[in-house]
Amino acid sequence: MSEIENVAVSLTVNGKKVQRFVEPRTLLVHFLREELNLTGTHIGCETSHCGACTVEIDGQSVKSCTMFALQAGGTAVNTVEGLAHPDGTLHALQEGFRQCHGLQCGFCTPGMLMRAKVLLSENPDPTEEEIRAGIAGNLCRCTGYQNIVKAIQYAAAKLAGRTFQEAAE
Ligand code: FES
Ligand code: FES
Repeated sequence: MSEIENVAVSLTVNGKKVQRFVEPRTLLVHFLREELNLTGTHIGCETSHCGACTVEIDGQSVKSCTMFALQAGGTAVNTVEGLAHPDGTLHALQEGFRQCHGLQCGFCTPGMLMRAKVLLSENPDPTEEEIRAGIAGNLCRCTGYQNIVKAIQYAAAKLAGRTFQEAAE
């Protein structure tokens, strides 16, 4: 049986250039976790359903179990580890999830945060319905989503320089 040769892949991850030799079949999520030790990107289903593995690639949210590491060559990938500011201050989304209790077990949270980051970059002032539609590809088994929606509304308000006002029930 012939051995499969490892292939070089170069990309930028959280602002740093990285190069590694990988098997061509290596999924991006495994590359991030096992080669780069960025284990904040979670693996849930590995079949593109749950969104736990969501990262940002060139400004788009991508489920990193759906692509090979080689396909990310030349791109800029951001993971949850790169979300906080360099001085350690939380990103508005992280603050929102904390303030609004947007997580319980936290398994879905890194993917939710990265999806929400892209959602707000595309639509800085989303309605509740737009938030719900925007995170429809990210599953949470704990929260019932209500507090995740609030957390994203909190972040949208903060990023716009407003104070988050909860809608009346
Ligand atoms: Fe990628 Fe579930 S692990 S979508
Ligand atoms: Fe547990 Fe979302 S907080 S899966």
